[in-house]
Parts: sequence; structure tokens; C-alpha cells
Amino acid sequence: MISVERDGHIATLTIQRPDKLNALNPEVLAALDAALRDLDTRCAILTGAGRAFVAGADIAAMAEMRPEEARRFSESGQRLCAAMEQTRFPIIAAVNGFALGGGLELALACDFIFASDKAKLGQPEVTLGVIPGFGGTQRLARRVGLGHARELVYTGALIGADEALRIGLVNRVVPTDQLLDAARETARAIAGVAPLAVNAGKRVLLRGEGMSLEAACELETQAFAALFGSDDQRTGMAAFLAKEKPTFTGR
Ligand code: COA
Repeated sequence: MISVERDGHIATLTIQRPDKLNALNPEVLAALDAALRDLDTRCAILTGAGRAFVAGADIAAMAEMRPEEARRFSESGQRLCAAMEQTRFPIIAAVNGFALGGGLELALACDFIFASDKAKLGQPEVTLGVIPGFGGTQRLARRVGLGHARELVYTGALIGADEALRIGLVNRVVPTDQLLDAARETARAIAGVAPLAVNAGKRVLLRGEGMSLEAACELETQAFAALFGSDDQRTGMAAFLAKEKPTFTGR
């Protein structure tokens, strides 16, 4: 269900259920969870096989669910999204086509999104009589603001990549055949700098979001100070002063 391709310090994870547009059933969720758990990398890219990133949670699997089962499905999707958000390394979503419903929620649990110019994104759950259940209402609002999130969640409308770029849902739009190259170039840039520092930046940005500015800045100070004394801090600063290129080890 998930293929993992390694290239030095970067890993590309591809959801492999193209005949169903990579719709998320419990098996895909479990496979993605397992793949991420085993992954030791400096940056990961998540993409989908075929013409979709992920066209949503599997409607066939959800159609007969009763509230208790739906609660467990929602909780398992939310656990996965939280785990993705909290990986030690950044994850770039390379949205190669449809990113709908649970697919957009998965992309939102990644650190940021690059999209193909052919991508279509949205939360169409209301057209099925439900709402996003994998954390989408909250992460979407935090990414694009309440106004845009409300419009997308209430209408179920799909938007194109340019509109997604305009509202800040995606960071970059590139032609489909250049999408993975663009994501890999950025992943290599991340993999080339100090891993502990990237990890600290990720943690502080994530945890700080729900805090007061004062508390978040205190968290930043703690993380900033803790990096001093790491091999990477000494290496990075010494290399700058010696006009050399540093090699970071993540220690
Ligand atoms: N769950 C289960 N199966 C899905 C799916 C989903 N979310 N999205 C697509 N599929 C399946 C289709 O049922 C079809 O399977 P089949 O070939 O066995 O009939 C296959 O994937 C291809 O999809 P199809 O609808 O034929 O492609 P399309 O190009 O005509 O339309 C979409 C593409 C994305 C517009 C359409 O598939 C769609 O609306 N999907 C559901 C989107 C959605 O509401 N997601 C939110 C779920 S909470």
C-alpha cells in the first residue's frame, strides 16, 4: 500500500492504491503509520501513485459505519495525522492530483504542500452528509484562516492549485512532471542543514501555534539554548567562521 524510496537522507513515500485514487481505507492508514514509524530520514516526501494524491477516506468502507465505528475510524485517522505532524523530520506533501477529504487532511498534517498545476483540493465531506474527521476542520483553519476554511468546509467545493496557492494552502505550484523534482530539491536543502535544528524548528512552530505568544517565545528560548553544545551548533558556527562548508551529523 505504501512504497518507500530512499535517496541519501531523503525518503519518498508513495501511496499505492491508484485504481481507487489512493482512497484511505484502514489498511492504507495502517501501512502509512507503519512506514512512518520505521523511517529514519532527514526529510520525507509524501505523494500518491497515479492521477491522485488521495481522493479521500474510502467511501465504500465508510458507507455502512455506525457512529461507534465512525468514531474509531476518525480517531485512527487523527492519530496518524498527529503522528505525521510530530515526526522528527519534516514531511513535504507533493500533491500530484486530487487531494480531497482525508487526502487534504493528510496533506495538511505534512509540514507544507507543493502542488501540481493539475491538482484539485477540497473538503467535499458535506456532499456526502458528513464533515472532515481526520483533523481537517482544525488544521485547515489554522493553515488558511477561518474564513477560507469555513467556505471550503460548508460548500465542499474543489479548488485548483492556483487558488490553493492564493489562500496559502499550498506553498508552491509546479507542472506535474516537475513536482517530485521540486519537492526533492527542497528536501535536499532541508537534509543538508543541521538536523537537530530543523527538528527544533519543527517542534517549536507546531507546539507554539496553540500557545500565547509569550509562552511560545519561552519555548523557543528553551529550544534555542538547548541546541548550544550540540556538535551541529559547534560545527556550523566554526565552519562559518573558517569560511568552510559544514557537514552535520545530527548530534
Ligand atoms: N472512496 C472510495 N473509492 C473512491 C474514492 C473514495 N474517496 N474516490 C475515488 N474512488 C474510486 C471510484 O469509486 C472509482 O472506483 P471504480 O473504478 O471501482 O468505480 C475509482 O476510484 C476512480 O474514481 P472515478 O470516480 O471513476 O474517477 P473520476 O475521475 O470520474 O472522478 C473524483 C474523480 C475524485 C472527482 C471522484 O472519484 C470523487 O468524487 N471521489 C470522491 C471524493 C470525495 O468525496 N472524497 C471525500 C471522502 S470523505
